[in-house]
Amino acid sequence: MINIRSEKEIDLIRQSGRILAGALHLAESSIAAGVVTGELDQEIAAYIRSRGGKPAFKGYNGYPANTCISIDEQVVHGIPGHRALQEGEIVSVDVGVLLNGYYSDAARTFKVGAVSAEKERLMEVTLASLGKGIAAAVDGNRLSDIGHAVQSHVEAAGFSVVRELVGHGIGQAMHEEPQIPNYGAPDRGPRLREGMVFAIEPMVNAGDWQVKTLEDQWTVVTADGKPSAHYEHTVVIRKGAAEILTLE
Ligand code: MF3
Ligand code: CO
Repeated sequence: MINIRSEKEIDLIRQSGRILAGALHLAESSIAAGVVTGELDQEIAAYIRSRGGKPAFKGYNGYPANTCISIDEQVVHGIPGHRALQEGEIVSVDVGVLLNGYYSDAARTFKVGAVSAEKERLMEVTLASLGKGIAAAVDGNRLSDIGHAVQSHVEAAGFSVVRELVGHGIGQAMHEEPQIPNYGAPDRGPRLREGMVFAIEPMVNAGDWQVKTLEDQWTVVTADGKPSAHYEHTVVIRKGAAEILTLE
């Protein structure tokens, strides 16, 4: 069942999402060569708590950190630790916030100093593909229209979409129905209705779409070692255009 949220519930998710947007803004201003990922994780967690929220990833299925920080060929679920960021890397920061019983989830990819032209384009295409997915997430469309819009944009640019990980419904749990693949044929699956709240999150690889998981049981990396980018927003389906709930 896909939940339809009341305006009151949507407002609670929006309040959670505002804190999250602030946390990603903080990440953006902190990221630089030499920054240690575990320290960035702590800084983000302290910020979320200072605004009354709770970092939602900590302890989720045993996840050991507050945020996911994934560098270069790491697609998602990179565990922050002792690694220091280096000039030329791209770093995806994925954050969840729980506030007053409601979850929000968002991610952005940042540059550490100057990066290669390929990484630059990968980031642009991934962000734009999230925009295409959000544009397809409107009342009256069908679920698979979202993934189809993402995939079409990504593949036209010569990149590939990760298949193994998907977006999701969100609200009173971080992961609710439905699963939202970033690929597939259009016009399939349930009809989208105003009040559905989704985390839409394209993960885009510069090379092939295949991924594998490292021995730490969390870090997902590209099979070919090429870089990957990730952008995510929590949005509510509306008539006409979805509303993004993870904005400041
Ligand atoms: N942000 C991820 C998602 O969108 C969840 C991270 S998994 C966790 O599904 F274990 F780190 F929480
Ligand atoms: Co998510």
